[in-house]
Amino acid sequence: MAGTRTFTMIKPDAVEAGSIGGILNMIAEGGFRIVAMKLTQLTVADAKKFYEVHAERPFYGELVEFMSRGPIVAAILEKDNAVEDFRTLIGATNPADAAEGTIRKKYAKSIGENAVHGSDSDENAEIEAAFHFAGREQF
Ligand code: TYD
Repeated sequence: MAGTRTFTMIKPDAVEAGSIGGILNMIAEGGFRIVAMKLTQLTVADAKKFYEVHAERPFYGELVEFMSRGPIVAAILEKDNAVEDFRTLIGATNPADAAEGTIRKKYAKSIGENAVHGSDSDENAEIEAAFHFAGREQF
């Protein structure tokens, strides 16, 4: 039976640092199946829309600038309990608080440049996946 799905991005800091391979390896070892994946770049408008929920927060401007500054890897991942298990695998938003063995503990530089995104609910996973991938790009 197919598992549930989550959406992830390897963010510009981690792409710049050459960490795509290492992060994909941790994702595979975590038991996630890649349903869709591409190297792409968010426009400023894309980043604004993707993080709309944070529009009133003081870090919004920097977040939009950071997320649109270079290529990202966007992917849809499948596993039983995907959203929650992937949040566990990536670790806390602030790498200083991230547990040992998490992706952010190993690859994130700061709360702002924290290497990876993971959807926070099944509903958002579906919205975020549809933002990046047409149905025919999902396997
Ligand atoms: P959030 O959805 O709270 O975290 P997460 O990515 O763990 O779901 O925030 C979205 C992104 O906004 C976060 O990954 C990095 C950025 N951010 C900051 O730059 N400063 C902050 O204080 C917070 C809370 C988030």
